[in-house]
Amino acid sequence: MDKGPEENSNHIFPARFAWGVATSSHQVEGGNLNNQWAAWEQQGRIKSGDQAGLACDWWRNAERDFDLAQQLGVNALRLSVEWSRIEPTEGQWNAEALDRYRQMLFALLARGMRPFVTLHHFTNPLWLEAKGGWAAPDSPQLFERFTQRVVAALGDLCTDWTTFNEPNVYTSLGYFLGEFPPGRRGRFMQLARVTRNLLLAHTAAYHKIHELQRDANVGWAQHYAVFKPQRPESALDRWLAEFIHRRFNQNFADSILDGRAPFPLNQFGDSLPEAQGTCDYVGINYYSRLRAGFNLRSPKTGFFQLTVPPNKPQGDSGVEVPYGEAYPEGLRRAVDSFKAFNKPIYILENGVPDRDDRIRPWVIQSSLEQMQTMLREGVDLRGYFHWSLTDNFEWNEGWHLRFGLIELDPATQERKLRPSAQVYADIIKRSRNGHGK
Ligand code: GAL
Repeated sequence: MDKGPEENSNHIFPARFAWGVATSSHQVEGGNLNNQWAAWEQQGRIKSGDQAGLACDWWRNAERDFDLAQQLGVNALRLSVEWSRIEPTEGQWNAEALDRYRQMLFALLARGMRPFVTLHHFTNPLWLEAKGGWAAPDSPQLFERFTQRVVAALGDLCTDWTTFNEPNVYTSLGYFLGEFPPGRRGRFMQLARVTRNLLLAHTAAYHKIHELQRDANVGWAQHYAVFKPQRPESALDRWLAEFIHRRFNQNFADSILDGRAPFPLNQFGDSLPEAQGTCDYVGINYYSRLRAGFNLRSPKTGFFQLTVPPNKPQGDSGVEVPYGEAYPEGLRRAVDSFKAFNKPIYILENGVPDRDDRIRPWVIQSSLEQMQTMLREGVDLRGYFHWSLTDNFEWNEGWHLRFGLIELDPATQERKLRPSAQVYADIIKRSRNGHGK
């Protein structure tokens, strides 16, 4: 294995650095049938044919995993609240659900972990989906009302908020590739209109949270992937890689940076000045590099294909498509591309699907080395959240892709630490020792 982050330089991580793990409600809680992902599963759309079932059983016992996280020395944990539990039917609020989240946040604080709460991580209540999801004209107001409830209920326990997780993944997979609900393909204009509503919802939530909480730290999580032309000698592939990079990586972020409307609405004179500047930090989710190439045999994906050359390091492959090349150097590219915001940066997700833990230790060590180098150069990095703590339900791949530092048997709920859990724990420990803790 390559050398780890240099022994003595771990103090480069600031004392308040958030050493975290990241999760999301639908993937870990289990037993909820009230969102569009449960419906998608019932329609047989999970490629592996798996069922989420109890997931990691967090709704009943998240504390079991919180104990394990504490043992790893983690001092921050990112989770999301499930809108479909909190507002099970439109306008009706479930106080018990909010209480359960209060319990979870208490449990984290009691274990020395700082909670980072995401308000929307891919799932919509069925009632919102029935109205058209984020295409519904009143979706931003509905989200603002939901935000108000959540912050009023949890605001004494948490000040770090993420409004939306990966709006670019939500829209690209839901409206262009048809891989996520609502399963639409090639709907460019709808994608743009949905993005616009997500931006309005984000903007409203940003202001609402600040209205309710003076010291709130609010941002969103932007997925970033590195795209390279499949055949660098092909002008078409070069154009394609650049086009996908712009549309995917800069979608959403650009509107927050300078108030432009999402492409192609901006081409028709639309703008979104109210979105400009609505973040206190930029959250980045980074996993992989993909080659983009034209392929006439891929009409399903608009005649392009995303591939990984066979000689590149890779975790496990998805049921139908490769997950991506493990390329820790890309983290720097991701961070660089949001420099213009001039805001603190949190890596809110980073990881690799790797059931046998073949390359995860290397991914963790190399990614954190990248972060050390950037910190030395003065980049304002405030946290790193590994995706994920425990194997969980990986959307349309089901249980097929395993991202956990901890291995889970979903049938027995038995857990086993993977070697990389120790790798991560050791890095955290060295960094904290550097600060005399
Ligand atoms: C992200 C997503 C997570 C998780 C992860 C691993 O895109 O936010 O929920 O699924 O990918 O693929």
